[in-house]
Amino acid sequence: MPQGDSHCPSWHRRTLWISGGVHIIAVLAVAIFGVWVFRLNQKITGHECNLNNKSAGAYRTPSCPLHWELQGRKCYYYPGASDLKNWSASHEDCSARDSRLAVIEDKAELIYLTSKLTNQAWIGLFITPAGGRWTWVNGSTLNANVFRVTGPADGDRCGTVQSSSIVSGRCITSFYWICQRKAEISSSWV
Ligand SMILES: *[C@@H]1O[C@H](CO)[C@@H](O)[C@H](O)[C@H]1NC(C)=O
Ligand SMILES: *[C@@H]1O[C@H](CO)[C@@H](O)[C@H](O)[C@H]1NC(C)=O
Ligand SMILES: *[C@@H]1O[C@H](CO)[C@@H](O)[C@H](O)[C@H]1NC(C)=O
Repeated sequence: MPQGDSHCPSWHRRTLWISGGVHIIAVLAVAIFGVWVFRLNQKITGHECNLNNKSAGAYRTPSCPLHWELQGRKCYYYPGASDLKNWSASHEDCSARDSRLAVIEDKAELIYLTSKLTNQAWIGLFITPAGGRWTWVNGSTLNANVFRVTGPADGDRCGTVQSSSIVSGRCITSFYWICQRKAEISSSWV
């Protein structure tokens, strides 16, 4: 067999050398690029970790079901534009909506609620025995330092809201009503 060298023209060998060099450069380039991508990825991941770690900086977004109105951490529903109900029927309606008649915490909430209404509406407040105490549907008695109820407090009275006030009404009377529930809180990283 003749020696390969003698049959290999010198241009062929040069080409081999050159293409070998090109290959080595290409391999190096790919390696460098790979390391760069890896670093970049680490940086991004690290950045996300930092964000995640600012737990206090995570946004907690309250939300309400469709047709409910969000205010603070609560959702409100004002049923029946043309529908009026007595207190116990209103109470049942809110229960059926997985909520309760509104229990008002402070003046600001009272003002907010009545700003949304053009008519008197039931809230979750009642007084059963004559001379008894005004009681919220969550079981607490009304804090007289925060709220005063306008109107009689004889037996079978329930609470309504109207024009930034809590007004006593006969429970069998039909009014609008306000349901309330806690807002859903979901975390987001936006
Ligand atoms: C987040 O911070 C806590 C300390 O505040 C630390 O123990 C934890 O390793 C950190 N987590 C990440 C993913 O950086
Ligand atoms: C009931 O609601 C009132 C007014 O928001 C609040 O002050 C009281 O702590 C609540 N009571 C219970 C038992 O949740
Ligand atoms: C309240 O209204 C409901 C439904 O209309 C009725 O069945 C119920 O007897 C009423 N309750 C009172 C105390 O009037």
